[in-house]
Amino acid sequence: MKILKILSLIILLVNIKSARSQGLATNRMIEQKVDSVLKLMNLDEKVGQLVLHTGFWEFTGPIPDGNRASSEADKIKSGKIGSMLNVVGAMSTYNAQKMAVENSRLGIPLLFGYDVIHGFKTMFPIPLAESASWDLDYIRLSAEIAAKETAVSGVNWTFAPMMDISRDPRWGRGMEGAGEDPYLASKISVARVKGFQSDNLANRFSIAATAKHFAAYGFIEAGREYNTVEISNHTLHNIVLPPFKAAVDAGVASVMNSFSDFWGIPATANSYLQRDLLKGKWGFDGLVVSDWGSIAEIMEHGYAEDLADAAKVSLEAGSDVDMESAAYETQLKSLVEKGVVSMDFLDDAVRRVLRIKFALGLFDDPYRYGNAEEEQKFLLSDVHLKASREVAKRSIVLLKNESNLLPINAEKKQKIAVIGKLAEDKDSPLGNWRAKAVSNSAVSLLEGLKENAGSNLTINYEKGYELTSGDRIFSVNLTFAADDGAGFKNAISLAKKSDLVLYVMGEDALQSGEGRSQVDVSLKGRQVELLKKVLEVNKNVIVILMNGRPVIEPWVYENAPAILEVWHLGSQAGNAIADVLLGKYNPSGKLPVTIPRHAGQIPIYYNYLQNGRPFDKNRDPKFVFWSHYNDEKNSPQYPFGYGLSYTSFSYTDMKLEKDTIGLSDTVKVHVTITNNGNYDGEEIVQLFIRDVVAKPMRPVKELRGFNKISLKKGQSERVSFEITEKTLGSYGFDGNYSTKPGLFYIMIGSNSEDVQLKELTIK
Ligand code: BGC
Repeated sequence: MKILKILSLIILLVNIKSARSQGLATNRMIEQKVDSVLKLMNLDEKVGQLVLHTGFWEFTGPIPDGNRASSEADKIKSGKIGSMLNVVGAMSTYNAQKMAVENSRLGIPLLFGYDVIHGFKTMFPIPLAESASWDLDYIRLSAEIAAKETAVSGVNWTFAPMMDISRDPRWGRGMEGAGEDPYLASKISVARVKGFQSDNLANRFSIAATAKHFAAYGFIEAGREYNTVEISNHTLHNIVLPPFKAAVDAGVASVMNSFSDFWGIPATANSYLQRDLLKGKWGFDGLVVSDWGSIAEIMEHGYAEDLADAAKVSLEAGSDVDMESAAYETQLKSLVEKGVVSMDFLDDAVRRVLRIKFALGLFDDPYRYGNAEEEQKFLLSDVHLKASREVAKRSIVLLKNESNLLPINAEKKQKIAVIGKLAEDKDSPLGNWRAKAVSNSAVSLLEGLKENAGSNLTINYEKGYELTSGDRIFSVNLTFAADDGAGFKNAISLAKKSDLVLYVMGEDALQSGEGRSQVDVSLKGRQVELLKKVLEVNKNVIVILMNGRPVIEPWVYENAPAILEVWHLGSQAGNAIADVLLGKYNPSGKLPVTIPRHAGQIPIYYNYLQNGRPFDKNRDPKFVFWSHYNDEKNSPQYPFGYGLSYTSFSYTDMKLEKDTIGLSDTVKVHVTITNNGNYDGEEIVQLFIRDVVAKPMRPVKELRGFNKISLKKGQSERVSFEITEKTLGSYGFDGNYSTKPGLFYIMIGSNSEDVQLKELTIK
């Protein structure tokens, strides 16, 4: 019998149940078990726990000879690999787990990691889209369902949620995040972590989550993928770190570092970030995983001489697990033997890996994560697809609705022209980072509309323009199909004879995501050109924007009478869009990012620091020496938090209960929201603050609360927020949070630009 089996029997006697019902390091039972296993391990086995390999063959078939696959199998069997990624499916993970558990000396089970970013097989909206819902319950539900599908497929560790704040639409990975605001992103990240992990990692369908990428990857210069990062201490603590801190406080099991450098040191080798802040100040007791190959890339950064040096600086800086660099695997043993790296560093890293394995219940039952029958039952189940549609419709943002073109009146006989290649696209709505989604499996807009429109609407379609062609997955540059305009004629003639045009434009799914930076974030191809021609023959045009990043298209925003931002919405995209178009769901989403007017404004965001020469309405308008552009406005196309509804909401009677309070007091602020339009609807009421005079300075506005309410037409509700010391504070250069007395603006509104203000003095 294996040593481990004897050991677990002894430990079982102590009381296994209490070990499962608490957190990680705080759980004494888990710590005892970790210590006992660690004592049994030799150096090779310890190093093995820190090695994360991608699967190189199909684990349901025979192991091919003489290549990486067969040596990989040998390594699993000898305990030289602690975790795998991209080995997915109940059978595959079972087979791999069996090699580890039955063949290795101690039988330590493997972790199986995978990028489950917005769904496993049932696709939910891309994370940026989902964030536009500001709906924490639905966001949690989406992660919960993704976790369930993942768990029954044998995978127990997702490399999500990504919580990199980004202010740059040129960066393709903004689609994976929660937008530009640290408060909103913190709430959303916690909802996602809780969705994946539930309140206890040992629960049946819980999987370990990963807060990534630590830290500041979203601030890569010029939005160019893998570029260097330049960021202030101030921005680090107040903008970048809060979502990570919130995730750690919520018990996230792992953190992934980043490809980028930070203050001149690659994040993977950054002791300040990983040891001092994350594991030190914040007390994070889970594991830190490197990004793919990021340990070896330290050499490319010019920070390490060779792979041994890279392994040493990374481990010492707190990177516990090496994903695909072969640095720990090939270097650590001799580094420790030679005394170059202390055994303490190694033991600390191994402990963290074992801790997660215990917390997930893998030592109790290494096979608890895969179940072929449940795969059949849960993957793409009706319940999951229904939930995906619910989340998707809440993620849509109504940007414009002149003359109330929307919703479409399905009671009236009307001829609807649907124009645009993306309308029939069953693949792009799945978004990038799509895990096990089946290509071309989304409900297209056209299908959704036809299915839901009823008998009065006659729907005709013309693709109009061409979009992408070639290898969309791996091509360095996504190629855009040459468009000779052959589809224009039919599209224009269809528009001419229709009552209403739905013009679908945007981006292919693979235009955003990792490695998909663009200098130009306007729409590719001839989509805008055709829209102009369509508008010449029919003024009743609703633009439907399907994209993975904020798109800069001022002409479209200013000239299309109605615009719906639908992002990439997942498996049920077409049905969700139809729900909104037909008024079965009144749109409620609000932008989690600022949409610029011009690429030259980037970075543009709502929570900026005020300069010494801001706009002054009393000044001569021709005066040149104030902070502005001579050829463009300062303001964005659409501000953070913006989004319309088919109904309208008024904000009245804002009242702060007291205008002066002590530092530790609380005060309530109230406002009455009235639905004074013609539809029932939901509104996201936003609370912003400004610390008016502060050292260091504070931004002109900071989101510090929101409340999503539902109001019947004609109904009013008094919405209240409680303001405490915590609501008003900020992080100093030392990374400590504090609130200082002084004057604060308390602002409530429907978006970051449309607010009412009251003054509050803290004594
Ligand atoms: C990405 C990570 C991802 C990893 C594993 C990397 O290229 O940056 O976010 O988790 O690959 O697939």
